[in-house]
Amino acid sequence: MPFDHNDHYHRLLLRRLPKDGRTALDIGCGTGRFARRLAGRGYEVDALDPSAEVIAEAEAGGGGPRFRRADVTATDLPEGHYDVITCLASLHHMPFATVTRLRAALAPGGALLVLGCYAGVTPLDLVAVPANAAARAAVHVADRRRGAAPPPLKAPVRRPDMTLAAVRTEAGRLLPGSQVRQLLFWRYLLTYHA
Ligand SMILES: C[S@@+](CC[C@H](N)C(=O)[O-])C[C@H]1O[C@@H](n2cnc3c(N)ncnc32)[C@H](O)[C@@H]1O
Repeated sequence: MPFDHNDHYHRLLLRRLPKDGRTALDIGCGTGRFARRLAGRGYEVDALDPSAEVIAEAEAGGGGPRFRRADVTATDLPEGHYDVITCLASLHHMPFATVTRLRAALAPGGALLVLGCYAGVTPLDLVAVPANAAARAAVHVADRRRGAAPPPLKAPVRRPDMTLAAVRTEAGRLLPGSQVRQLLFWRYLLTYHA
């Protein structure tokens, strides 16, 4: 399987799950890899994506989540319900202000965890280029040795248009008390607790 920048951060996200959480919503779930990991941790998982193709693939993978074909910007979410809401590389597909709807759907003490993508170049991105090449080469060699299957279906992708600075400004305005941490591979982690 090719090196995947989003899957690379699954363990980081799993370490930030609230203690004793039971209900989870994964936004832009793609083929469902992270939603299945949440289900594996005992969560009741709702997982949304507007792409019929990836939802079909997600459902074929099973593993417990309730997968639904839906656009989160046009779907009613239950208020105060979820102990954790996750968005992995999906928030930049929609207006950033969608986070206010996600905030309203969090149960008291619930966590919003966004693995986001940003536009523009920062000093850390200069390190990301060789690190990315090395990670891809390592995965490629390991796959060839194992005779790995061809890459799975890729979820729809889109270029981000907000810089990291703009993400920090909007997060501060719409999610007071949130934290935005820059990560390697053109990503950030936004954490907010209701
Ligand atoms: C880059 S993919 C990431 C998929 C998955 N989270 C992962 O980590 O592999 C972005 C996903 O967001 C979904 N998406 C785009 N617009 C959306 C919306 N309005 N509501 C929910 N999901 C959306 C896309 O269909 C796509 O599957």
